[in-house]
Amino acid sequence: MFPEHRPRRLRGTAAMRRLVSETTLRPRQLILPMFVAEGADAPRPISSMPGVVQHSRDSLRKAAVEAVRAGVGGLMLFGVPKVHDAVGSGATDENGVLNVALRDLRAELGDDTVLMADTCLDEFTDHGHCGVLRRGEAGEDTVDNDATLERYAEMAIAQARAGAHVLGPSGMMDGQVGVIRRALDDAGYADTGILAYSAKYASAFYGPFREAVDSQLKGDRKTYQQDPGNAREALREIELDLAEGADAIMVKPALSYLDVIKAAAELSPVPVAAYNISGEYAMVEAAVANGWLERERTVLEVLTSIRRAGADMILTYWAAEAATWLDREKA
Ligand code: PBG
Repeated sequence: MFPEHRPRRLRGTAAMRRLVSETTLRPRQLILPMFVAEGADAPRPISSMPGVVQHSRDSLRKAAVEAVRAGVGGLMLFGVPKVHDAVGSGATDENGVLNVALRDLRAELGDDTVLMADTCLDEFTDHGHCGVLRRGEAGEDTVDNDATLERYAEMAIAQARAGAHVLGPSGMMDGQVGVIRRALDDAGYADTGILAYSAKYASAFYGPFREAVDSQLKGDRKTYQQDPGNAREALREIELDLAEGADAIMVKPALSYLDVIKAAAELSPVPVAAYNISGEYAMVEAAVANGWLERERTVLEVLTSIRRAGADMILTYWAAEAATWLDREKA
């Protein structure tokens, strides 16, 4: 009548559980995305992302230093410009908000952390799309892939010049990794890396991010981001980015795409990142605010599950805080 096998033996004490734990979660595996707003003289809260702010130049510097002290592996910067236009001029302007912030942080932090930048036009365009538009014969606007690539090449050089170690092309234009790689190499930035947002889905979970960057978008990004139902297509996108020279690849969002992360990890010869995005953050924070979930436990479980699926690194708005929890755990 008695069970022959007793898996519970390996769960009996905290020491035993620690010994047999399969998945590691360390501060260095976490990348903190940060927003910096042009002309802000104090941090501005983002209502749908409690605890996350649009930084001023000054508060960005302080928060970045703190995050690095907490042990995070890197920072990913997004700019929120004051002025938007059709081609996203602020993205390539050396005095544009993102490029200024990159220079500030590189000066402040040197090579102590990996400084990354979002290489995409949507924060800077007045229509909110990730590229430049072309008017079709019927008067409809479509995102012009190849004209956008030219803008990405210029943006990449501006960001590398401003001090980014790694660029994160997130616009899902065909050929973006190859064009950026060539532009960087030709301009003398052969050492600047590319973290390719390879499998990026047209997700409802980006909602709070749109508030975070004052997005001008009406409509959606379905002609360039992937359909949530497609997994095979993600593998093709990853293979193309690898062939074009990606130094690391990304799956985004994370929680609804753990199967894609796992498949990516199985095939990728380079590190795999996953983006635990704004809506995933908001969802947990909202439930916590209602007293429905325990904050620290939930966040660590979310991050552990993304690691278990195969992500080497995770972009998460909880990065700095989680890093301090994980350090405490070690002590
Ligand atoms: C595009 C970009 C987006 C995010 C990161 N880069 C928005 C989008 O594709 O609509 C979303 C990140 C998040 O939701 O946390 N520049």
